[in-house]
Amino acid sequence: MNAGVRAACADDLPAIDAFIPAFLEPPYKRGRFLRALRDGKVVVAIDEGSVTGFMWVNEFFGHTFVNVLAVAPRQRRRGHAGTLLAHAERNALTDRVFTSTNASNAAMHAVLKRYGWKRCGEVGDLDLGDPEIVYVKYPS
Ligand SMILES: CC(C)(COP(=O)(O)OP(=O)(O)OC[C@H]1O[C@@H](n2cnc3c(N)ncnc32)[C@H](O)[C@@H]1OP(=O)(O)O)[C@@H](O)C(=O)NCCC(=O)NCCS
Repeated sequence: MNAGVRAACADDLPAIDAFIPAFLEPPYKRGRFLRALRDGKVVVAIDEGSVTGFMWVNEFFGHTFVNVLAVAPRQRRRGHAGTLLAHAERNALTDRVFTSTNASNAAMHAVLKRYGWKRCGEVGDLDLGDPEIVYVKYPS
């Protein structure tokens, strides 16, 4: 298989670190990410043997929640985010999947619209002046 999604492992870290979002860099968050990777909560998108993106999934009120999704800059606009989100949908704990992103993240809002996610809420007081917009999708 040339392209697909598989569980991430420690060997993938150098590739992931090349495009990991800056908000995961502080030591506390880095530690949480490494634990999630060890616990099988992180998957990578692979294309021609290379890591093109990753997704960290956890639980939100008993439902699957896409916590972080990122694609390497040179690999963007090739559907890798869609491949990763489809993986979350296929492996959902329940009949729905949640995710969220800052109001300012136009690319992520476009992605979620493109793949049929529905806005379902907003959380303030996280990043000041840039609320977190919550989305849901019910995979059919
Ligand atoms: C957001 C992100 C994950 C998208 O990954 P991607 O693999 O490029 O997304 P896809 O190729 O699946 O995009 C699907 C569709 O979403 C829309 N889209 C994606 N990026 C877009 C952008 N920058 N501007 C406008 N629309 C965009 C388009 O409709 C696109 O389809 P098209 O390329 O045929 O026009 C990527 O830009 C990224 O890693 N950003 C930095 C990390 C981040 O902000 N993550 C989200 C919050 S954790």
